Amino acid sequence: MKHKKIVIVATGGTIAGTGKPGKTINYQAGDICVDEIMQSIPMIDQLADLETIQLMNVDSNEMNEQRWILLANTLNEIASREDVDGMVVTHGTDTLDETAYFLNLVCHTNKPIVITGAMRPATATSADGPFNLYQAICLALNESAYGQGVLCIFSNTIYSSRDVQKINNLKIDAFGQKTFGCLGFMRDEVAYFYTKSNKLHTAQSIFSLNALNTFPKVAIAYYYAGADVELLEFLAKKHQGIVVVGTGSGNYSMEWLKKMQELSEQGTVFVRTSRVSDGIVFEDPIFDPNNQWIPANTLSCQKARILLMLALSMTTDINRIKNIFKQY
Ligand code: SIN
Repeated sequence: MKHKKIVIVATGGTIAGTGKPGKTINYQAGDICVDEIMQSIPMIDQLADLETIQLMNVDSNEMNEQRWILLANTLNEIASREDVDGMVVTHGTDTLDETAYFLNLVCHTNKPIVITGAMRPATATSADGPFNLYQAICLALNESAYGQGVLCIFSNTIYSSRDVQKINNLKIDAFGQKTFGCLGFMRDEVAYFYTKSNKLHTAQSIFSLNALNTFPKVAIAYYYAGADVELLEFLAKKHQGIVVVGTGSGNYSMEWLKKMQELSEQGTVFVRTSRVSDGIVFEDPIFDPNNQWIPANTLSCQKARILLMLALSMTTDINRIKNIFKQY
């Protein structure tokens, strides 16, 4: 029987990290190539016809908009190939959630795209990378992954790229989905799906990278008790949009509120998120009396930033952007 074809696009991270044999700390992320990681996965050649592309080899803290565009364009090109059935991306865990969501919004395909990484470098005792990569390939081969947007697999658990977050910086079970739990689980190569994200993504997404090589600038402003409004003034000088990480339901002092109103009049677009890790940010007559800011709903501040960047590349109409935040 003809094998399905999966293309693995490697970008670096701890999964490609090396350090002192056996140790899990003080290592160099993004050091070895993906072919070397694959050598430690037994029987990998029997899974599928595998092609690898070492697109970059960086610590994911070096990810930026240019690298996202390169990765997304590469995946869109691979997805358009008739011989390809699915794609896997290996990535550092630190910004994996951001890259996954960006790809979810700009890769136009129903073919599975699965992203994974590792918490332990390849040279550690019980490195988790090879197993995560093995499961990522199996998930990309799975019919049920078709049309589900960019998926993330980590420690036997399947997550949606819209909701996944790194929630632990020590354990190998390092990811979670806040309120929404997870999409399902994997036991070796078998996937068990239980839930689905009903937000728009990939093939249904209106966002396109056509001719885009930069995005409108969007910053994140974190509110804390007594936070100085100068922070907002400073950011507004260089950014078209600001994602405010408020307290509670997306709240801040009246002084911040007044400064946000003043800056809105000058054209800055604000999105309200919360520093509370679980819950939802709605429209709010107290903290947005003129109904002029965009509630991020359940998006984390870093994902709200990505969505605002893409939205601002199409429109500055607040009601349109509000709708986009409801749909994606
Ligand atoms: C990185 O994000 O590249 C380093 C950390 C990790 O992959 O766990």
